[in-house]
Amino acid sequence: MVAAAGGAASQPGWSSRTAFVLAAVGAAVGLGNVWRFPTLAGENGGGAFVLFYIGCVVLIGLPLILSEILIGRAGRSDAVDSVRNVARESGVSEKWAIFGVFEVVAAFMILGFYSVVAGWVLYYAGVFGADFFGALFSGAPFAGALIGEAPEAIQGRMGDLFGNIPLLIAMHTVFMGITFWVIARGVHDGIEKAALYLMPAFFVLLLVITIYGAFVGEFSQAVAFLFTPDFSKLTAPVMNTALGQALFSMSLGSAALMTYGAYVSKETRLAPTAGMIALADTGVAIIAGLMIFPIVFAVGLDPAAGPTLVFQSLPVAFQQMPAGSLVGLLFFILIFFAALTSSISLLEGPTSWGINARGWSRLKSATVFSIGTYLLGIICLLSLNVWGDVRLLGFWSIFAESNIFDVVDGFTGKVLLPVSALLTAIFVGWRADKKLVENETGLEGGMFALWRFLVCWLAPVGVALILVFGLFPGLLGG
Ligand code: TRP
Repeated sequence: MVAAAGGAASQPGWSSRTAFVLAAVGAAVGLGNVWRFPTLAGENGGGAFVLFYIGCVVLIGLPLILSEILIGRAGRSDAVDSVRNVARESGVSEKWAIFGVFEVVAAFMILGFYSVVAGWVLYYAGVFGADFFGALFSGAPFAGALIGEAPEAIQGRMGDLFGNIPLLIAMHTVFMGITFWVIARGVHDGIEKAALYLMPAFFVLLLVITIYGAFVGEFSQAVAFLFTPDFSKLTAPVMNTALGQALFSMSLGSAALMTYGAYVSKETRLAPTAGMIALADTGVAIIAGLMIFPIVFAVGLDPAAGPTLVFQSLPVAFQQMPAGSLVGLLFFILIFFAALTSSISLLEGPTSWGINARGWSRLKSATVFSIGTYLLGIICLLSLNVWGDVRLLGFWSIFAESNIFDVVDGFTGKVLLPVSALLTAIFVGWRADKKLVENETGLEGGMFALWRFLVCWLAPVGVALILVFGLFPGLLGG
């Protein structure tokens, strides 16, 4: 293992800048890009949501990515301890470490439901895989998919899956098992290796399927949908959703960037790296939209289908498309790769905390948090089924209708991530030592001033406003 220059002896390090960038992009690009972004863009009317989302990325997300990475590299520890170290060096209260705690908790909670959704992905990969190889042996591999199955039956597969608890648990178990295995192998042999193989494969698949969709689908309709804004659709809850999604998608507020930052060498320039992460993440989200919507429109499906868009609508579309079963298989493999590099990063945050703060071995820490998130995942998964009527936060208007799954998802995205983002901005902008911060960013003159303005003013004010109006929509008289 290559020790990070200047790092504490116990802290592992990336073997190169490329390894770090791939792992960080792998953390950012995930279900958030290929499942949640198209879902939300579809539900919230397309163009205006997308534009507001991009604004959140540039003005709030990008400055915060750099802020989180720099806390990690300056603090050289897990998310909680790194904040504490920077606070100590800056001569301010160590209580700031509380947002490090929020971030570790957020990562833990996100991984709980993330693995369940990744389990659905595995199931659909299996469905299309079986279909493709079946067709291959019967000599017609490039016909549509699931030939002879009624569209209602294809859509019904999702309900069947949700009704099948052992199957849901099996898929969730497989996915958490793989995630655990990678993290147990460590930064160098686990995280880096996974990113090194999976991310390039992901990008190739993304391009192939997008080009395919452009040829056989309604590409121009998709472009119009994603880029023609109708600002009347931009309500406070929609803005709150867009911000939450931007933070979620860039893995902000959930320990990953601070944890990964701690493994970065002192020579690496952080600002361009932060830019690459933001650009890659947003680019993939938009390309994913351009991959999915042409296919959705080609068969006249509803873009606002919600979380089942990718799982229920697309398989129906694949049925009618040339080489549908192969494309379906590749599509779900693509999502699986994206999900895996993210779940790995989600587990690394809490694992690193266990190693540093509790003195556990990597194996023990990974085991403890894998089992913990696994159990949370089971609870989420049961709320798709027998616990469907449980309303954990029924007293809170925005969660009144939410089952446990949606509460865990919604509470992290709408509350925990924005709160951590707000505290990160205030801490880095106002409390941390300015010289220390400036040196870590590597930015100079006007660029540093601009970045600092965004972190000191725009990010906190923007996040605070969206948080307040999003959580209490009544304030706007709505
Ligand atoms: N960014 C991931 C995605 O888009 C989800 C995510 C949120 C995440 N927080 C994270 C991934 C922390 C890794 C680490 O799917």
